[in-house]
Amino acid sequence: MAPAERATQADLAWRVRPILRPSCAPPSPTGPGTSGGSLGASCETRVHNPPVRRSDGRLRPPRGYPVVVTFPVIGVIGGGQLARMMAGPAVELGLELRVLAEGPDVSAVAAVARSRVGDYRDRETLRAFAADVDVVTFDHEHVPGELLAQLEGDGVALHPSPAALLHAQDKLVMRRAVDGLGLPNPSWRAVTDAAGVESFAAETGWPVVLKTPRGGYDGKGVLVLRDTAGLEAARDWFTGGELLVEQFVPFSRELSVLVARRPSGEAVAWPVVESIQVDSVCNEVIAPAPGLADETARAVTAAALHLAERLGVTGVMAVELFETPGAGAGYLINELAMRPHNSGHWTMDGAATGQFEQHLRAVLDLPLGSTAPLAGHAVMKNILGGANEDIYAAYPTALSSGPSAKVHFYGKDVRPGRKIGHVNALAAPGEPLEDVRARATRVAAILRDGARDAPTQ
Ligand SMILES: Nc1ncnc2c1ncn2[C@@H]1O[C@H](COP(=O)(O)OP(=O)(O)OP(=O)(O)O)[C@@H](O)[C@H]1O
Ligand SMILES: [Mg+2]
Repeated sequence: MAPAERATQADLAWRVRPILRPSCAPPSPTGPGTSGGSLGASCETRVHNPPVRRSDGRLRPPRGYPVVVTFPVIGVIGGGQLARMMAGPAVELGLELRVLAEGPDVSAVAAVARSRVGDYRDRETLRAFAADVDVVTFDHEHVPGELLAQLEGDGVALHPSPAALLHAQDKLVMRRAVDGLGLPNPSWRAVTDAAGVESFAAETGWPVVLKTPRGGYDGKGVLVLRDTAGLEAARDWFTGGELLVEQFVPFSRELSVLVARRPSGEAVAWPVVESIQVDSVCNEVIAPAPGLADETARAVTAAALHLAERLGVTGVMAVELFETPGAGAGYLINELAMRPHNSGHWTMDGAATGQFEQHLRAVLDLPLGSTAPLAGHAVMKNILGGANEDIYAAYPTALSSGPSAKVHFYGKDVRPGRKIGHVNALAAPGEPLEDVRARATRVAAILRDGARDAPTQ
């Protein structure tokens, strides 16, 4: 679709795409309803025609075509598990999801009808992908900003926008923005060499945390430095560019708050959750965060909604936080993710609207769904790759061990420590939280370790 023909958000609901069936000949270029669009020889070519305005002002399909009124097409850059988990809600809402996948075997490819394999760092690949969809969104935050700016210049509807996404791509940009909005940051500084780290540590005290501003995930790009000697391990990190150094926050636990915002401004938040990391990888999430002070819950929720509004976020955003009871605001902001997030997987079964459905609604500027929790507590336990490679063989034991637990598997090959799925469990009325955690943990362990060695209770 040429940029000039691209529908505005408000038009999306009216998009009409005549589909040329194998038996139909392409209509004459001067015929009714032609838009000068790309009429190809193939009868499978989709032609985007403008709808016709009726005398009562409403839109109707153009005359003269074997028309099918279709829904918007959402393109997702990246074919990981987040894109895959958008597929279920897309099917339920009748939306078409297409994925720009890193390879033919990545997680999302099996879940969507159409995917294109290509390099998200290549301008022409991105352009060709965007040309066939109405809205582009993301499975990850690694697409270079300059390429996104070009797509935006072409008229592609990107959600989130490159300007907003930058705050999830670059931790230095994020720290500056959080300071600028007067929200609670840990002490931090941009440094370019070891001397900069030492002078920062001289002020805040060791340990400090050194981070690469871009490209980190699951703790890669994060180094805790206990003293000057620890800097040795970071020698290769100083290549002239800026790094982020932060105080080591003595947090009581990690929290996360998930919000969604649509382009016209409506925004909602789910309850604040506790997220438990093991070796910097999210291992378990408890919703809502047990025993969280109401005041802190209100403050972090307001902060996340404020960030979403002021940064112009569209879609789902997760704000990772450190709880610091008794100090300052009672919390500090760790980082932002602008897409569905591991700390929001519980919403798939534990809230009236799951984060993947909400993301689709938000990027299409549709009314957002209720974020009300469906149980007193929900627990999400990640399944990390372990000894068992035959996940399905463990299904009978796992599913019978926790009939009310929900298993989500990502269709990925098992590798040690790799996130390959998760289990959600909801508290029955009166059920203690520890029992729900045990249930989710037991089912995840059976899948990770295999049925034979797993406990049966
Ligand atoms: N300033 C800090 N003080 C104490 N611990 C920290 C600090 N910054 C990060 N951490 C710890 O390191 C983990 C990873 O850090 P961070 O979230 O910044 O990195 P990441 O690799 O980008 O994570 P993600 O996988 O969430 O994208 C955090 O979850 C936290 O446990
Ligand atoms: Mg993080």
